[in-house]
Amino acid sequence: MSDVQRVAKKIDGKAFAENMRRRIAVQVEKIKSSHGITPGLAVILVGEDPASQVYVRNKGKQTAECGMTSLEFKMPATATEEEVLAKVEKLNNDSDVHGILVQLPLPDQINEAHVINAISPDKDVDGFHVINTGRLATGQKAMVPCTPAGCVVLIKDVLGNDLSGLKAVVIGRSNIVGKPVAQLLLNENCTVTQAHSRTKNLPDECRAADILVAAVGRPNMIEGDWVKPGACVIDVGINRIAAPERGEGKMRLVGDVDYESACQVAGSITPVPGGVGPMTIAMLLAATVTACCRIEGLVEP
Ligand code: GUN
Repeated sequence: MSDVQRVAKKIDGKAFAENMRRRIAVQVEKIKSSHGITPGLAVILVGEDPASQVYVRNKGKQTAECGMTSLEFKMPATATEEEVLAKVEKLNNDSDVHGILVQLPLPDQINEAHVINAISPDKDVDGFHVINTGRLATGQKAMVPCTPAGCVVLIKDVLGNDLSGLKAVVIGRSNIVGKPVAQLLLNENCTVTQAHSRTKNLPDECRAADILVAAVGRPNMIEGDWVKPGACVIDVGINRIAAPERGEGKMRLVGDVDYESACQVAGSITPVPGGVGPMTIAMLLAATVTACCRIEGLVEP
């Protein structure tokens, strides 16, 4: 079969995440029955951003479904930085809370770094605190950002646990995805290129990648002829675009990768939706269990 006819294996993140959540529920039950402790996750949502409201609702639902305590704190869009910091401080000191997540983005009057760095690093299930980013960068035990961790779990599920020497290209350099995913792949001994909007000859950079991670937020930007035959393609993009074929005013989700052309060339590829997206919350639930075990001095699952 020529490369042109190849159809990539679809990486089913939805099914993988469902499986993970079932395993997490078993771990939670064991922690409860053996130690009388219930892992607890607190989520703070400031304002009424519709996408954030959906994420927070899903996080709360899945946290409870796994048997953990889910606490949700909604603050008005007019909340001050001091008010949010006071809430974080209260949760830092609450022994029933093992994980704290402040949904981003925050309203303009609030400095995100001030808030993130006020979270106790041990309860920082997002892994965004400078202490955790520093620990990750220096190979120390860290809380790791959830979407990047989910990407690496999917990559290993396809390529196996040893990624040593593989060439990885990460497109995007955000603190939430691009930088930490590059760091994680470097820690797996990949040869990592961090590409971004100023990168020259981006298609050529991409064509060298055994592992291509796209996290740019530009719909269908990466085309099939940018992909090395057989590569593992991880699409982190979630872009809402007009879908007139579904009716007037209808929208649909697409990734940063042009799926139709890329899946003719790649060895494996995540779809959007149903690829990386569902992994984020599953990794968050796993991080909450990890934080609980570390804080309570229990053996980590
Ligand atoms: N907003 C978009 N993604 C994330 C995430 O992973 N964590 C938080 N806290 N906010 C987000």
